[in-house]
Amino acid sequence: MCGIVGYIGESQAAPILLDGLSKLEYRGYDSAGIAVYDGDKINMSKAKGRLKVLSELTHDGATLPGSIGIGHTRWATHGAPSDVNSHPHFNESQSIAVVHNGIIENYLKIKKMLESKGYKFVSDTDTEVVAHLLDYYYKGNPLEAITKVMHRVEGSYALGILFSDNPDTLYAVRKDSPLIVGKSENGNLIASDVPAVLKYTRNVYFIENEEIAVITKEDMKFYNVYEEELQKESVKIEWDVEAAEKGGYEHFMLKEMYEQPKAVADTLNPRLKDGKIVIEELNMTEEEIKAIKKIMIVACGSAYHTGVTAKYILEGLARIPVEVDVASEFRYRNPILEEGTLVIIISQSGETADSLAALRMAKEMGSKVLAIVNVVGSSIAREADSVLYTWAGPEIAVATTKAYSAQLIAHYLLALKFAEVRGTVSEEELSELIEDLKRIPEQIEMLLGNREKIQKFANRYVAARDVFFIGRGIDYAISLEGSLKLKEISYIHSEAYAAGELKHGTISLIEDGTLVVALVTQEELYKKTISNVVEVKTRGAFVLSVTNTGNTEIEKNSDYTIYIPHTNKYFTNSLAVIPLQLFSYYISIGRGCDVDKPRNLAKSVTVE
Ligand code: F6R
Repeated sequence: MCGIVGYIGESQAAPILLDGLSKLEYRGYDSAGIAVYDGDKINMSKAKGRLKVLSELTHDGATLPGSIGIGHTRWATHGAPSDVNSHPHFNESQSIAVVHNGIIENYLKIKKMLESKGYKFVSDTDTEVVAHLLDYYYKGNPLEAITKVMHRVEGSYALGILFSDNPDTLYAVRKDSPLIVGKSENGNLIASDVPAVLKYTRNVYFIENEEIAVITKEDMKFYNVYEEELQKESVKIEWDVEAAEKGGYEHFMLKEMYEQPKAVADTLNPRLKDGKIVIEELNMTEEEIKAIKKIMIVACGSAYHTGVTAKYILEGLARIPVEVDVASEFRYRNPILEEGTLVIIISQSGETADSLAALRMAKEMGSKVLAIVNVVGSSIAREADSVLYTWAGPEIAVATTKAYSAQLIAHYLLALKFAEVRGTVSEEELSELIEDLKRIPEQIEMLLGNREKIQKFANRYVAARDVFFIGRGIDYAISLEGSLKLKEISYIHSEAYAAGELKHGTISLIEDGTLVVALVTQEELYKKTISNVVEVKTRGAFVLSVTNTGNTEIEKNSDYTIYIPHTNKYFTNSLAVIPLQLFSYYISIGRGCDVDKPRNLAKSVTVE
């Protein structure tokens, strides 16, 4: 999604802005721009395309001198990607420059009002409305103009604002779109995400909804929408700059796949104490856990897929009924949340607009909300009743890998804890399950070691047109993720099907040579899935099977078999996902796709 960076200090702003924006590239964008005040006026450069185009245009920032500025990478929502629609946007006299993340929902109404007062618009964006509206309200006091704009606009926004007649101050404001302020000895920064400021500082203030930051070279003050000053505490970011850089790997996705053993161990280990599962953050008494009547899991994309897996595990182990829904459906379908329903929101970024809206709705309806989130201090983490953090570290590649794996672990922990408290597993079973859990990091490590074998296989399928992923039960949940991984980074059409559903329609698409990836890790379902494999084979499919070590029977009906080491039947997704991730990765490379930044996608989907 769009990225914002701003700087005020002693150094030249433009190179810092370009560098900061480069750290936000992973969010996805189609154009970029910067605006810098040169001591007399605000100068601006913006261009459609990659940041490289903007760097060349500005000679790495040299053509825009000055030590206060704002920058933006845009992911088009209102108005096509183009130079003119790129941010920053000016008011007519070019004395106010604005960068914006989010969507101003009532922009057409405001635009009409401003046009009737003689304002002229040059772009198709909702953001330009903010620049002109600030101009409309500006009578020499920026803070007053900003609060008036906040009262007038509806929707979501993170804004960075420059006023040329107030050139010693940078303004920032947010509502439902993330924004942070970084305090450094060499000046202060704003950004839509932490990696953009990490090179300069680890001291960060998280701006809350409807808060305004007024930032000078040496100082910063925070206000609410009534212009009352607020006291805020800074947070120290613990993770390293290197954690957000490639560290010798060709792509972030590859690096992050290799970080999975650590992400899994870091999420698991702090919650295992003396052979027991201890989740202090859960904030639930045993009575409260026993009183849960239903769990409603809500998330988007891959996070939703971990929710689908969790349904099988929570129902199987803790015997609690679970419903799973995608957030964009849940929020508009007038759901029923009866008393005793625990709502779980899963999100890597903690900023996904639909998931955040679902969280707020669930809270309004009186449900307790538990969030499983990776980004500390993100909106979902802050607004949930309790948070179970996945400790995967910063995930940069658009396609999630390590956060997905860490989310699975969070679900296992919850399921085992609930099962223990509700007495649905014996002590003996529980300790066996915990032993299996502890082995997962090294088993993932082992599977990552098979990289070359999978690369060879992937090379044969680089030109595939359609790929089908099939499985039953938990294997169906992993099929969903395998299929999404493949299509999002390789642009190959792919579908996931519950294997038993094939003959109700999809099997008509299978023809000579169609690749079918069969997930066969659930022992009690082997026979059933194998009969589906036979069905596609007899129609000419080429079958790649992913199954448990020892299930050599499958080889009779598969063209290629990948084995995963033994684990409990509830945990197989954590292992089966590894070859599927590697397969998608190598197909994507083979097709020359932009693995880390697939077209049309954004890392953090902060708009609907
Ligand atoms: C796919 C992927 C997305 C996200 C989805 C939710 O690889 O990463 O499908 O899972 O956009 O994002 P978060 O988890 O940030 O809410």
